[in-house]
Amino acid sequence: MSMVPASAARTTPRTLLAKKARGEPLVMVTAYDHPSARAADAAGVDAILVGDSLGMVVLGYDDTLRVTMDDMLHHARAVARARTAALRVGDMPFLSYQADVAEAVRNAGRFLSDGGMDAVKLEGGRERARTVRAIVEAGIPVMGHLGLTPQSIRALGGYRVQAATAEAARRVLDDALRLEDAGCFAIVLEAIPDRVAALVTSRLGVPTIGIGAGAACDGQVLVWHDLLGWEERISPRFVKRYAAMAEEARGALGRYAADVRERRFPAAEHVYPIADAEWERLQAGLAAHPPAARRPETVAW
Ligand code: KIV
Repeated sequence: MSMVPASAARTTPRTLLAKKARGEPLVMVTAYDHPSARAADAAGVDAILVGDSLGMVVLGYDDTLRVTMDDMLHHARAVARARTAALRVGDMPFLSYQADVAEAVRNAGRFLSDGGMDAVKLEGGRERARTVRAIVEAGIPVMGHLGLTPQSIRALGGYRVQAATAEAARRVLDDALRLEDAGCFAIVLEAIPDRVAALVTSRLGVPTIGIGAGAACDGQVLVWHDLLGWEERISPRFVKRYAAMAEEARGALGRYAADVRERRFPAAEHVYPIADAEWERLQAGLAAHPPAARRPETVAW
């Protein structure tokens, strides 16, 4: 059953553009499965990103480089089944769009036709402009991603703030303008100084969505596991935790284990009763025809 009321209007790239024009902040969050997509939608977020952060927060990799199209589509489909009102954005994984423009268009298309997404996101600036244009010309809305771009982590040399010099900041601004010109409907700005993000935001017609980029962006995005406190190992400066889910889960699992070991669970309210008459018939049958005694050697383990 969908959590989305029949009347809920579907969010589109146009909705986000209209919100920027009205000065209304946009809310995006990552989600990787059906229950999290339902929860995000019920909370009224504008957009759900099936991020390739999947590789790190769900699949246990150290970076996003090993995430495949198959991984992404598997999780995109689970999110899509929630039939959200929120815009669903699928993150194109490493090497699904960098090598060849035609391959990029085909892979972007799979996010819509096979993954149930409404749009795709890809990383990079001017070097991606041709690819963005080709994908947009194929009828697929594209979200850009500048600043700290995790798929380039080897080239960047680590997860660190970007655009902190005048030259690098200028480059991000020029890249953002090139992406807008190529047809991006929104651009994620990750880990750049707040004043640089504010400058980029003021120069663009399309919305910026910040993560570690300050309050002047048109919207914000956080990773599900960071926001909810599922990820406890690292906590970047830009993350605000709104819950302590990992701690809550450990506590709950500990109580469950104790209940099982102390025979407090399952209790009467958790079991399926059999009617007395049926129970008595079973007993009578057993008395009349006892089952053959099991020979110990027939037990396999
Ligand atoms: O993969 C992801 O979760 C992202 C967000 C951090 C924007 O790209």
